[in-house]
Amino acid sequence: MQAFITHLSKMNKWTNLSYANVATTSPKAHLIASEWAESLARGGAAEFDADAEKEGMMPLRKAAATLLGCASSDVCVGSSASELLGSLAWAIAPKKGNIVSTRASFPSTVYPWQRVADEFGSEIRLAPYDENYYTNPDDILSLIDNDTKIVTLSHVEYACGQRYNLKTFAKAAHDVGALLIIDATQSMGMVPIDAQESGADAIVSSGYKWLRGTYGAAVGYISPTIQSLSPGLLGFRSHKDIWDMKADRLEFPNDASRFEFTTIHFGAVLGLASSIEEITNIGIQKVWEHDIKLTNMLIEGALESGLEIASPTNDDERSAIVSLKIPTGFDTGEVVKQLQDEYGILVTNRSGFLRVSPHIDNTPEQITFFLESLRTILNI
Ligand SMILES: Cc1ncc(COP(=O)(O)O)c(C=O)c1O
Repeated sequence: MQAFITHLSKMNKWTNLSYANVATTSPKAHLIASEWAESLARGGAAEFDADAEKEGMMPLRKAAATLLGCASSDVCVGSSASELLGSLAWAIAPKKGNIVSTRASFPSTVYPWQRVADEFGSEIRLAPYDENYYTNPDDILSLIDNDTKIVTLSHVEYACGQRYNLKTFAKAAHDVGALLIIDATQSMGMVPIDAQESGADAIVSSGYKWLRGTYGAAVGYISPTIQSLSPGLLGFRSHKDIWDMKADRLEFPNDASRFEFTTIHFGAVLGLASSIEEITNIGIQKVWEHDIKLTNMLIEGALESGLEIASPTNDDERSAIVSLKIPTGFDTGEVVKQLQDEYGILVTNRSGFLRVSPHIDNTPEQITFFLESLRTILNI
C-alpha cells in the first residue's frame, strides 16, 4: 500500500490549496474506496456479504467519534451533509415559531429548514453580512427570541471562513428552548471540535473537504438528547435489524444510527474512516496549528503585496479559509483560472473573493509558490 501511496503523491501535478472546495483525496482513503469498488465489480456481494453490509458503517462511526470526542453510538453515517441535514430538518419539523441562521450560509445549511418552514408555517430569519461576507455574531443573537425553535449555522462560513463560537450559540439557543444544528463541513478535520462540550444538538459534516475522504460519505453527531426523534428519511436500514425485513413494522435503533436508512457507497465510507484516522493519528490540534501556520504565511505575504484580506484574522473567528480581495481591473474568476492553467494551483472563486484553503498535505513552499504566482499574474 505504501508504494501505491507514494506513487500517487508523486504523480500529482496539482497544488491543491482548495480544501474548502474539494480535497485531493487521502491516498489511503482512495485506495480503500477503489479496492472496495473493485471487489463489488468482481463479485457483487461475494466479498462484501450481508454481515459486512450490516456492520459497514461501524469503522466510520468509530473514527468520527474519536475525532469528535463522543461515543460511536452518537454518530451516524450518510452519503452527504445535505442529506443528513434534510433528514434532521424533517425529524424536528418545528411547527410555527422561527428558525435562525445567516444569509452568508452555504445553501444546504438553510434550504432544508426553508422547506419545512414552508410546510409548517415557521419563519426563517437570516442575519445579514457586510461587504466582506462577515456576519456580526450579535446580529444572529438578536434574531433569537422565545419563539425560536432552531438555530442552524455553518461552524465556519464557506465564503469568508468566519468561525462561530459554538458554546455561545448553544447557550443562546438552549436558553429559549431551541436546538442548535451545526453544519461542520467547513470545519471538521480542520478545527478541533468536542461534540459534547460544544453544546450542539447535532453536528453534520461532509467527507470530501477537510476530512479528506472521497465523494459519497458524510457523518453526523446526534446528541443523546435528540436521539429519540423519528428521522425525516427512512428506508430498510432504518429498522434496528436491517435483515429482519418486514414492511408492516419499524423499530428504530436506540442511538444516532437511526438516521442511517439505506445502502450507500461503502467504499467511500471505509475510505473516509481511514482518512479520519489519519487526522486523529496526527492529532487534530497539530493539524489546526499546521493549517494556521500556513494561513499566517499567506496573510502576511498577501498584506506585504498590498492585497486586502476579506476573512477575519483574529484568533477567535479565523479558520484555514482565507479569502483575498483581488484588485480592481482583474477578474477573480480569470485569476483563479490562470493559477490553475499556468501554475497547476487550485484555489476557488467564491463570492468574488479568491478563496485559499490549505490543509495537512500542503507545505510552506507551496504557499510561497502560490504567492509568487499570484504576484506575477497581478503584476505586483
Ligand atoms: C458548509 C457546507 N455544507 C455543505 C456542503 C455540501 O455538502 P454535501 O455535498 O455533502 O451535501 C458544502 C459544500 O461546499 C459546504 O460548504
